Amino acid sequence: MKKILITGGAGFIGSHVVRLFVNKYPDYTIVNLDKLTYAGNLANLKDIEQKANYKFVKGDIVDAVFINDLFQTEQFDAVIHLAAESHVDRSITNPLDFVMTNVIGTVNLLNAAKNLWKPELGKEMTDKRFYHVSTDEVYGTLNETGMFTEETAYDPHSPYSASKASSDHFVRAYGDTYGLPIVISNCSNNYGPFHFPEKLIPLCINNIKNNKPLPIYGKGENIRDWLFVEDHARAIDVIFHSAKNSSTYNVGGHNEWTNIDVIRLLCKIMDGKLGREEGESAKLITFVKDRAGHDLRYAIDSTKLQNELGWKPSLQFEEGLERTVDWFLENEEWLENITSGAYQEYYQHQYL
Ligand code: NAD
Ligand code: DAU
Repeated sequence: MKKILITGGAGFIGSHVVRLFVNKYPDYTIVNLDKLTYAGNLANLKDIEQKANYKFVKGDIVDAVFINDLFQTEQFDAVIHLAAESHVDRSITNPLDFVMTNVIGTVNLLNAAKNLWKPELGKEMTDKRFYHVSTDEVYGTLNETGMFTEETAYDPHSPYSASKASSDHFVRAYGDTYGLPIVISNCSNNYGPFHFPEKLIPLCINNIKNNKPLPIYGKGENIRDWLFVEDHARAIDVIFHSAKNSSTYNVGGHNEWTNIDVIRLLCKIMDGKLGREEGESAKLITFVKDRAGHDLRYAIDSTKLQNELGWKPSLQFEEGLERTVDWFLENEEWLENITSGAYQEYYQHQYL
């Protein structure tokens, strides 16, 4: 595989995947296609932007003609598709944005790959790959027991998860109908450096730092299964290189926490780092109106990935959270450029 298209590489997870591939595989050319929505930030990739095997293209996956032309010009060998609208709360206020990017955008990429690679049903394609990065939210919600496996039926509840479920179905349909060499992974909640500060953990890091309220939806009893983002990027590397066509892998940390416990731990870590008395930051916790359709519990069973491809998470949550806090405290400028909006003006204008 020589030329790989990574979509959404200026976002949170995408930037870690781009960095890993650019540094680890100097023989590959990595093309990062990103629209630079509010969630895209090229500052996430400053350390690798000058590398000879890296190229950035600003563009929208919803633009079918542009996408098809890009595939014909660049002759990609593989796609790792991460571009998406990713925030559940925004999907509740603007569902159509999620349909456009997550569903139509994905189908545009599938069509462009099909037009370029010309797969034939029943003929295994081993030198091409369309890897779709998806989420555990497609499986819906769990009660106190059980875990999501690759066989769990889809049951999405938010417009975000419905759009991701729809895109997963299209990806599988292109494998089954046209023989496109597809792979899908469904991952649990990521956290780590470059996490956009609208999501729970970075939002609360920023608010603790600035002594602002920490908004906890409902009673804070919802459970998420947290995975350090670099572990997800390593999983994507392993799956991309070793999975069989048409396979699916669940990726997760076996690391379930209620939201309130995550935030209490975060407050404790930050009290230490900021020289505050223990318990001071926790006073900022504020229970607010619950998210509509809020899934109670996610828990990923990643046994298949661990047994078949030998991947496992490398970090304990406490250690990963502390590393994340350190990163945010050391990268104040990155955070301030986002909260002030300066990041968007600079990078958007540069690529107009
Ligand atoms: P993100 O919101 O941080 O980044 C998304 C990126 O996609 C941004 O750089 C944005 O500019 C780009 N983008 C959005 N619309 C686009 C369009 N129309 N054309 C081109 N680029 C566009 O998202 P993330 O958290 O890094 O998630 C990446 C992928 O991983 C998503 O597909 C998401 O569903 C999936 N995922 C995320 C998590 C998580 O915890 N964040 C967990 C599992 C799966
Ligand atoms: O499970 C994987 C998913 O994880 C990804 O597919 C999504 O792209 C990603 O955004 C994330 O979705 P969540 O909705 O779980 O993440 P978020 O950080 O928005 O919320 C985490 C939990 O915290 C969730 O139960 C809602 C709650 N929450 C969130 C925010 C933003 C709060 O209590 N207060 C908040 O202010």
